[in-house]
Amino acid sequence: MPKRALITGITGQDGSYLAELLLGQGYQVHGVVRRSSTLNFSRIEHIQDRLTLLPGDLLDQNSLIDAVQQARPDEVYNLAAQSFVQTSWNQPVLTGEFTALGVTRVLEAVRLAAPEARFYQASSSEMFGQVRETPQTELTPFHPRSPYGVAKVYGHYATVNYRESYGLFACSGILFNHESPRRGLEFVTRKITDGAARIKLGLADELRLGNLEAQRDWGFAGDYVKAMWRMLQHDRPDDFVVGTGRTHTVRYFVEQTFAALGITLAWEGRELDEVGVDTANGRVVVRTDERFYRPAEVNLLLSDPTKAREVLGWTPEVDIEGLVEMMVRADYERLSTGRR
Ligand code: NAP
Ligand code: GDD
Repeated sequence: MPKRALITGITGQDGSYLAELLLGQGYQVHGVVRRSSTLNFSRIEHIQDRLTLLPGDLLDQNSLIDAVQQARPDEVYNLAAQSFVQTSWNQPVLTGEFTALGVTRVLEAVRLAAPEARFYQASSSEMFGQVRETPQTELTPFHPRSPYGVAKVYGHYATVNYRESYGLFACSGILFNHESPRRGLEFVTRKITDGAARIKLGLADELRLGNLEAQRDWGFAGDYVKAMWRMLQHDRPDDFVVGTGRTHTVRYFVEQTFAALGITLAWEGRELDEVGVDTANGRVVVRTDERFYRPAEVNLLLSDPTKAREVLGWTPEVDIEGLVEMMVRADYERLSTGRR
């Protein structure tokens, strides 16, 4: 009998890579999708005929119970969330409903309709926020710096609590930033690779960014979904930090991206007046803009993924340079063939 999986957030970046991984392992894959006036299945359209899509929303308890009853899953991956940190200041209540209480709703659906299923919660390095120690491990205290981070801390502890209260096989994966050509355009890496490709092709003049000094431990989403799967194959439920163990500034990501397109940048000015100049022809291509700064910043994230390596045998395969190359090439090709 093939194993059965249920993925919330299957239309998102991670959901699409995880669905591919599980199909490749012979799983029957079910995905929860919410109603929208226009279809947004672009990340899964290449595999859609092999998936069973079930209607449901993190705000609606009954729809989640129905989805679990229909899928009869062996494994449930809760990837759905309001996942953009910046938006969480603008919509803090909705972010709490989706990203915090939504976890309890999915856990309740599993407890009631499939208590033997293994459960994965998409927790986040954003929970470390104003970091108490570097690098961050499973034991580092949380200090979230955004409504999104606060909501993820709730989701993490809800997961731990259902494991301890009801004996659910519930795991929390504390994942550091992971990116891909399927990353949403609002996140900084994709904004940079898409923006730089547009500049190179003459489709845009400049790219406006916020804090260039923030440091992130960036990896490739295709590697990280393998860690999620491995957590649910382990012999007991546990929590794991997943990252590369390397960190870089946003500025470094910008420089690498433009370099991949043959543009070398020189920096002039400071903070809000800062510009990146294309040294070959003197044009300004990057500008800082206060609209993209955050009310409270997470300045530095750096993982210690020792536990994931030693217990799960997981290591990332794509490094930051490979990731930049993969993303900027995909954006350049897409835009140069007329797709916007
Ligand atoms: P993403 O691309 O933004 O995808 C989010 C998914 O959640 C989409 O499928 C979205 O559906 C769905 N969703 C949002 N609200 C929903 C609702 N009310 N009901 C049902 N579905 C809803 O995010 P991602 O990058 O794949 O991340 C996956 C998960 O990992 C998220 O929980 C995120 O917070 C967490 N995480 C991500 C990272 C990272 O660096 N990527 C790191 C740590 C943790 P629509 O397509 O309908 O919008
Ligand atoms: N989005 C964005 N846009 N970020 C910018 C910009 C800009 O124009 N300029 C600078 N940044 C900085 C942000 O201030 C932040 O420090 C960093 O770039 C990364 O921002 P995002 O790419 O939006 O990601 P994030 O780190 O806030 O959140 C992502 O990673 C979390 C894991 O740590 C998301 O994927 C979350 O869902 C995830 O939990």
